[in-house]
Amino acid sequence: MKRDLISVADIAFDLDDIIDLSISLKRNRYESSDTIKNRVLAMIFEKPSTRTRVSFEVAMQQLGGHSIYLNPNDMQLGRGETISDTGMVLSGFVDAIAYRAYKHENMIKLAEGSKVPVINALDNVEHPVQIIADFMTMREIFGNIEGRKIAYVGDGNNVANSLILGAASLGVDISVGCPKGYYPDKDIIELGKELTADTGSKIEIVEDPAQAVQDADVVYTDVWVSMGEESEKEKKEKIFGKYQVNASLMDKASRNAIFLHCLPAHRGLEVTDEVIDGIRSRVFQQAENRMHTEKAVLLYLIQN
Ligand code: CP
Ligand code: NVA
Repeated sequence: MKRDLISVADIAFDLDDIIDLSISLKRNRYESSDTIKNRVLAMIFEKPSTRTRVSFEVAMQQLGGHSIYLNPNDMQLGRGETISDTGMVLSGFVDAIAYRAYKHENMIKLAEGSKVPVINALDNVEHPVQIIADFMTMREIFGNIEGRKIAYVGDGNNVANSLILGAASLGVDISVGCPKGYYPDKDIIELGKELTADTGSKIEIVEDPAQAVQDADVVYTDVWVSMGEESEKEKKEKIFGKYQVNASLMDKASRNAIFLHCLPAHRGLEVTDEVIDGIRSRVFQQAENRMHTEKAVLLYLIQN
């Protein structure tokens, strides 16, 4: 049976192994794979992308396969063909589909209509492929990450949701510091709490960013205005001002804390230059790891 990667919950019990595989793939960057040879990945992107698009394309090429980048406006999707019919048709041509969508419900419809694995390349609810690279980066830096603490400061968005599920799956504590009204998704928090039954990690949502970063090994932030929310820019920039990750907030975290950001960053808003360019920042290592983790995901989902 095909497996999809729509939510981190879909790989909760395999996340550790996928990270191990990513680390070994990083050591053997140009090694191709019989699993992927001649296989094709279709990539439907409704929103812009630098990291996700390029990392998947290079990953497929280096593993010996191919990818096709599809803009919905150039497809019949743009003229009303359903996403589910599109999935059914593409399943006859390709071996997996990566989809960046505005609406989570369309992600589900595509997965229901496809006979091949569907990979969530970001939607309004989750960004699962991002957080695999985030936890891989933590593993490279800290070794064993069980019992470590992440502080996510800012908007309780798709990245925050996936980080909660990843932390809960891996035994990492997570404290989310964000304003009321911008908390992560309720159902995700519930699901995260269920996952902690096996791992014992703690999930905490607080309003005070200083409280969130206390004793944190990782301080993580993302943009305040996600793709598709441009009309809320002015309002959100006012509300989120005190959630900026700056040197003074970093000083409140653990002494050896690192800084992570999924990128793209809006310097001077959610993070200052001083922090993102400073010695604690590992954002470019984190970005490179996107490619190694995309390879692991492709090998994991595309069956022989
Ligand atoms: N972090 C991330 O997904 O970046 P892109 O939007 O550039 O793919
Ligand atoms: N939360 C951001 C992540 C971008 C990679 C967005 O959805 O735009």
